[in-house]
Parts: sequence; structure tokens; C-alpha cells
Amino acid sequence: MLLPNGIRHLPGYLDRPAQEALVGAIRAVVTEAPLFTPVMPGTGKEMSVRITNCGPLGWVTDKQRGYRYQGAHPLTGKPWPAMPSQLLDLWSDIAGYEKSPEACLVNFYADDARMGLHQDRDEQDFAAPVVSISLGNTCLFRVGGLSRNDRTLSFKLSSGDIVVLGGEGRLCFHGVDRIYPATSTLLKNGGRINLTLRRVN
Ligand code: SIN
Ligand code: FE2
Repeated sequence: MLLPNGIRHLPGYLDRPAQEALVGAIRAVVTEAPLFTPVMPGTGKEMSVRITNCGPLGWVTDKQRGYRYQGAHPLTGKPWPAMPSQLLDLWSDIAGYEKSPEACLVNFYADDARMGLHQDRDEQDFAAPVVSISLGNTCLFRVGGLSRNDRTLSFKLSSGDIVVLGGEGRLCFHGVDRIYPATSTLLKNGGRINLTLRRVN
């Protein structure tokens, strides 16, 4: 399958022990910075994923102030937890970008959650890639071009897969159409975790 320029799919990049270690680190993040339900700007409609972040900055959204990055959790007011070292190491192995990631958005998908087609464009810096890690149940990922109406193609992401949106593909539309229940034993209660590492400034 030919992906748009700048988009890379690295199937099975993380082996099972690495996936388990990462889930452990993310559980610790979620304990400090609880998952919350993001709300779309304007409409106030709740997204079906629940999110949190780690690193100096975190991506948040609410009805009044919209999509943005900020240094503190919107409910606890506390700074986001530090980014686990495994994620910093992954970034330096994969991103091909000198500076460290500033934000790791943690998306938790219950088996009935999805994410509509969108661009990641709330960052100042599009020179750095977005590095996306899949854990838990398999999903159907969709990627298109730089316009919403461009043709899209779909492929499955399994636990341990990594996708890189970089270069000419950095602003490609993408989304998650569905989660396939019971396709992984990594997460005891099912669902899927997606981690995206981003450079913001
Ligand atoms: C995202 O675009 O923020 C998430 C992508 C994914 O869940 O694979
Ligand atoms: Fe995205």
C-alpha cells in the first residue's frame, strides 16, 4: 500500500515487553493526571475518546476556549507528569528531529470510540513530525491528503505499531473509524491507547 509522502507505518515496532512497560508508564501518568472527556469548541459536543497528557505541554479542548496546548491539567490544575523515558527514547530513534517532544497526548478509546477525520495543526512548528504509538485493540486508521475532500486510504493499526506523520505528510487528514474489540490481550479491560508525541513550539 502506498502511503502519502511523509507518512510511515512501522508495524510491530514495539515488542510485547516494550508495550507492557509503556502501559505501566501510562498508568502512572493517568494516576497523576486523570483521563477526562474533551469537548469540541463551539458546539460543546463531547468527543468519544478520553484524554490526558504528559510532558511540559498538553493538548486540551473545551467549549469556550477551543483547541490549545497548556502546561496544566484542566481539572486538577497541576502540571502534566513528566514524559516517560521510553517515549523520549522512541522519539530520538524515530523522529529525526533534534529537539525533544514537548507534549504526549494520551487518547483512550473504549471499544465504541472513534475519532473523526482531522489535521494536527495546533502546533507552531510543523517541521517536527507527529509520532503516534498504538497499544491494545486494533483500530481501523484512515489517512487522506492535505484537503478534507482528498481521497483517503484505510489500514489497521495493531498494538505496538507506530505511525509517523512528517514532512509533506505532517498535515494530512487522519482519523480512527473503529476499534476491533478483543483483538489484543495487552489491556485487561479492552479498548485502545494511542500516544502522540508532538513538538509544539
Ligand atoms: C490522533 O489523531 O490524535 C489519534 C490517532 C490514533 O488514535 O491513531
Ligand atoms: Fe491527530
